[in-house]
Amino acid sequence: MTFIVPPLPYDQAALEPHMSARTLSFHHDKHHLAYVNKANELIAGTRYETMEPIDVVRGAKAEGNQKLFNQAGQAWNHSFLWNSLSPNGGGAPTGELAAALERDLGGVEKFGEAFTAESVGHFASGWAWLVADKGALKVISTHDADTAIAHEGLTPLLVLDLWEHAYYLDYQNARPAFVGTYLKSLINWDFAAQNFAAAA
Ligand code: FE2
Repeated sequence: MTFIVPPLPYDQAALEPHMSARTLSFHHDKHHLAYVNKANELIAGTRYETMEPIDVVRGAKAEGNQKLFNQAGQAWNHSFLWNSLSPNGGGAPTGELAAALERDLGGVEKFGEAFTAESVGHFASGWAWLVADKGALKVISTHDADTAIAHEGLTPLLVLDLWEHAYYLDYQNARPAFVGTYLKSLINWDFAAQNFAAAA
């Protein structure tokens, strides 16, 4: 199987009260699994079957296979999402990532403002990202299953799921509250720092 649902890197209740075990149970065990199963069905018996997930996503985009791109993109994005959250999240980055954040986005507070504006202003479903664009940090959002890895030159550092299934059980339709909690208590700066170092 090319696509898998990795185990959560923390206990299902570890993000409470910010994100409930019930949300993670639906989101990880049901939504993510459905994308993974559909992506695997679509690649069965095709040249994609032996490829890495990232290459399936990029290949589907290159050939305009939207049906596969949607399932593969969602499968990849969710695996990246679980690591973008942490029971010890929030706060601010340190080291080189902190310096780059200051240089490119004006520091962690300004980053938070930009990330909130991008997430709250994003119409309908999608994803909010902190990316390195050839070394420069940027906040962007993508629609539906679209993903930073399908855009030339972008290295994703962090992602937040803006689909309602990510927050409806805990926050109903209050996306601003969900985004605020992410920045204050869940954002995994260590994961971002690892991705930033690997991209350098
Ligand atoms: Fe999701």
